Amino acid sequence: MPASRRGSASVTLPTGQTLAFHSHTRSSEDDDLPHATKKKMADHLRKYESLFTLTPQRMRMIVEAFKESLETGLAKSEQIVPMIPTYVFGWPTGNETGDYLAVDLGGTNLRVCLVTLQGNGKFEITQSKYRLTEEQKQEDGQKLFDFCGECLKAFIDLYVDAGTIAKESRLPLGFTFSYPCSQNSIDHGELIRWTKGFGAPNTEGHDVVKMFRQSLEKHNVPAEVVALTCDTTGTLIASHYVNPKTRIACIFGTGCNAAYMERVGDIAKIKHLGIPDDAEMAINCEWGAFDSFEHENLPRTKYDQIIDESSNKPGEQAFEKLISGRYLGEILRLVICELIDEGVLFLGQNTYKVEIPYSFDTAFLSLMESDPTDELLMIIGIFSHFFALETTLAERQFFRALAKLVGRRAARLSACGIAAIVSKMGYLEEGCMVGADGSLYNKYPGFAERIHEGLHDIFGEKGRNIITYHAEDGSGIGSAIVAAMTKQRKIAGLYPNL
Ligand code: GLC
Repeated sequence: MPASRRGSASVTLPTGQTLAFHSHTRSSEDDDLPHATKKKMADHLRKYESLFTLTPQRMRMIVEAFKESLETGLAKSEQIVPMIPTYVFGWPTGNETGDYLAVDLGGTNLRVCLVTLQGNGKFEITQSKYRLTEEQKQEDGQKLFDFCGECLKAFIDLYVDAGTIAKESRLPLGFTFSYPCSQNSIDHGELIRWTKGFGAPNTEGHDVVKMFRQSLEKHNVPAEVVALTCDTTGTLIASHYVNPKTRIACIFGTGCNAAYMERVGDIAKIKHLGIPDDAEMAINCEWGAFDSFEHENLPRTKYDQIIDESSNKPGEQAFEKLISGRYLGEILRLVICELIDEGVLFLGQNTYKVEIPYSFDTAFLSLMESDPTDELLMIIGIFSHFFALETTLAERQFFRALAKLVGRRAARLSACGIAAIVSKMGYLEEGCMVGADGSLYNKYPGFAERIHEGLHDIFGEKGRNIITYHAEDGSGIGSAIVAAMTKQRKIAGLYPNL
C-alpha cells in the first residue's frame, strides 16, 4: 500500500457551485502507478520557465513595437491595431443625469440594465443577465440581435409592470458591443471581425446598430439606440466618472483590450472631419490584435501557435491569445498533453478527458495558484473530479508552478500594452490611474501585482506611478454615461452628425 494522508478542501467553480474534496492523497512517489520522479518534473519545469519567462529587456522591445503599432493605427485606417475613434468626446462632467437602458453583448453573457444617473458621480443600476450558448455565438447574426431584443423587451415589460419604468416611455439606450467595429459616428459601427470565439455569419462587414435596431423594431421594444460603445470605452468613461485621475481603461477577461483619451489633432485618419485639434476623443485600441498575422514581436511558444492555428480565426488577435481568459487554460492543457505524449505524466491512466480541447478552464489556473494546502488538495480535486486523474505531490507542485508561469506571462504582456499607451501619451512622470476590469483582473490571484511588477521592470522606479485599480462597471454604467453625454452633445448641436 502506498503511504497516504487524508485532507479536505473546497473549490468554488466558475458556475458558482462549491465542491468539497475529502481526499485520500498519495504522499510519496513510490506507489502503484508509474510516475515521473521529482527531479524529472523539476527538469521539465526549467524548460517551461525559459519558454514562458519575459525578461525586462524583451518587455521593453515589445513596448517599442507596440507604441509604433498604436501610432500607425491612429495615422491610417485598416491597420493591424485599428485604434478606433469612438466619437465619445472628452470626459464626463460627473453631472450627467437621467434614466438609461444599457445592453451589453459580452463574450459570455448578455446583460440588460436600467441605469439611473443621479449626478455627482452617483448612480443606481438594476440588471438581468442571460447566459449565451455556444450555438448562439455561431448562428445567424440577426438571430443573435433578435435574442437581445427579446430579452430587452421582457426586461422593460417587467419594470413597467413594477412601476419603475414609466408606461409609454421610450428610453435612450447605450449598446455595448465588445468586438472591433469601425465607426464613422457614435451610433454606427461595422463589425471588422468577430473575436473571442464568436462566428455568427452575416455580421462581419455589417452595421451592428442597424441590425440591432431591426430586432428592436421586430419585437416592439420602446428604446432608442443613441450610442454604440465597447466595454473598454465604457470602462474608461465610468471609471473617470468616479475617479477623475483615470487615463486608461483595460479589460482582462474573455478578451483583452484597452481604451484611452486622445487629442483629435493626433488622430490623423479623421482629419477630414474638421474637428478642432485640441478636442479630445476616446480611442478603442482593440490592442488584442497587436502583432497579428506578422507575429514579429511577441514571444509565441508552440502551444500558442497550436491555439492560433486551431482557432476559428487563425492569425488574428495574436496579443489577446497570449493573455485572455479564453486561452490561458488551454495553454496549460496543451503543455500537459505534450508531457502525456512524451510518457512523462499519467502513465497507465486514462487521459481522454484532459485531451479534449478547451476542457481546462482558466478558472482552474487561479484555483491552482491559490491552493493554500501543503498537499495541494484543490489540485487533487480538479484532476480527480474533472479529469479522473490521480496526481502525485511532485506533479501537483509542477502544475502549480506551470500555472504561475502562464499567468505571470499574461500579466507581464498586459503591462507591455499599458506601458505603450503610457509612453505614447507621456503619462509616466505625472503618473496615472488605469481602470481595469474582467475576470482575469478580478479573480486571478496576483494578476494586478504582476502587472505592477511588469511596469516596474519596464520603467524602473517611475513605473510605480502607474496604478491599476478595479474599475467601475463599464458596459452598464459606462454605456449609460456615454448615452447621456451623446444626448447632451447633440442637444447642444456639437457635431450632430457624428
Ligand atoms: C475582444 C474584443 C474587444 C473587447 C475585448 C474585451 O478583444 O475585440 O472589443 O474590448 O475583447 O472584452
